[in-house]
Amino acid sequence: MTEPKIDSRRLWDGHMAMAEIGPSPGGGTARLALTDFDREARHLFRRWAEEAGCAVRVDGIGNIFARREGEDPGHPPVMTGSHLDTQPLGGPFDGIYGVLAGLEVVRALNDAGIATRLPIEVVDWTDEEGARFGAGCLGSNVFAGRRALDNTLALTDAHGNTVRGELERIGYAGPKPVGGFPIDCFFEIHIEQGPILENEGIQVGAVEGAQASTGYWVTVTGEEGHAGTLPMALRRDAMHGSARMIDAVVNVAMDFDPHPVITVGHLRVRPNSRNTIPGQVTFSIDSRHPDNDILASAGAAMRAACETIAEDRGLELEIEQTSHRDSVVFDPGCVQTIRDAAAARGISCRDIYSGAGHDAINLSHVCPAGMIFVPCEKGVSHNEAENAKPEDLAAGAEVLLHAILARAGRA
Ligand code: GLV
Ligand code: MN
Ligand code: MN
Repeated sequence: MTEPKIDSRRLWDGHMAMAEIGPSPGGGTARLALTDFDREARHLFRRWAEEAGCAVRVDGIGNIFARREGEDPGHPPVMTGSHLDTQPLGGPFDGIYGVLAGLEVVRALNDAGIATRLPIEVVDWTDEEGARFGAGCLGSNVFAGRRALDNTLALTDAHGNTVRGELERIGYAGPKPVGGFPIDCFFEIHIEQGPILENEGIQVGAVEGAQASTGYWVTVTGEEGHAGTLPMALRRDAMHGSARMIDAVVNVAMDFDPHPVITVGHLRVRPNSRNTIPGQVTFSIDSRHPDNDILASAGAAMRAACETIAEDRGLELEIEQTSHRDSVVFDPGCVQTIRDAAAARGISCRDIYSGAGHDAINLSHVCPAGMIFVPCEKGVSHNEAENAKPEDLAAGAEVLLHAILARAGRA
């Protein structure tokens, strides 16, 4: 029997071709969800999947499913995938690897002439990054019934464009209902986005779980005025108040042990003019911790800190929670399948925990799910300098291939 083999060169070349869609000024990738560049990347994935013999369908939140039929088409599929969208200044591997490695598994099975008992589906989940519409993992959240479809379609970006409008504009508002069908299991492969595997010289991480995360928009309203004429004592400066709030919010992390990670990464200023006192500022908060209760306590502390400053400065304050997910433990059976696949191929593997959010976290609520990590250079990600070694990407994909084969079964 021919053994299936990952084609490292083909996998690498796929990443380089995708990276040409939405290149960023510093040599990375700038492909925000549901932009023209996202449409182009989706088209390319779709074309490659069809060339590999897959049937492609799109659901109502724009998730793309490429299906390689099984001998038993009535059986729930083994699913794998991740996302093709990137951060505003991202790299060529975060998410993309999970989609292209899934496609490479299909191609490797085709090349070896291997049929599987269960169908295999490779998925591109819509807007994992959450950099545009204020919340992340939109496609997998709706798929897993963890966000309402209508409410998600109504989310807006900084220019007032809705998810619904942008999906229609790029031609990916699919006709299918979202989710609601059984899945045998879901495997997601991803770069680690941290330094552990590289530092230890290990090629694969079997991911045991992922930390909890809560996101907020904070809107601070004061009053616009002339920067040259209004005395300091009479101002209700939304920017100055926000600056104090941001400092307090990030410092809340230090009040807990082990401390959560707290990030304020996005600011919207009205009217955003150098000589007008800002009347309104909206900023994002991204907070994460492995312990759900500690994360909730940190949330309450951040809220209290903002309220005190708002009162002190005569500012109005609105805090909206935009997203939340509890910490998860991945399916022990899937994690063991990953460890076994690595051991059988002689690929070094250790257990690891995810600090980042991933679509697999949502999938873990509707089917057994597991994740595979591979090293990336210096652990750098969400950065144009993001990089990974072709041989590590191939080793991870080899583990993915054998984990999928273990579940899907040779026909
Ligand atoms: C996804 O990139 C995340 O925010 O963890
Ligand atoms: Mn990702
Ligand atoms: Mn990311």
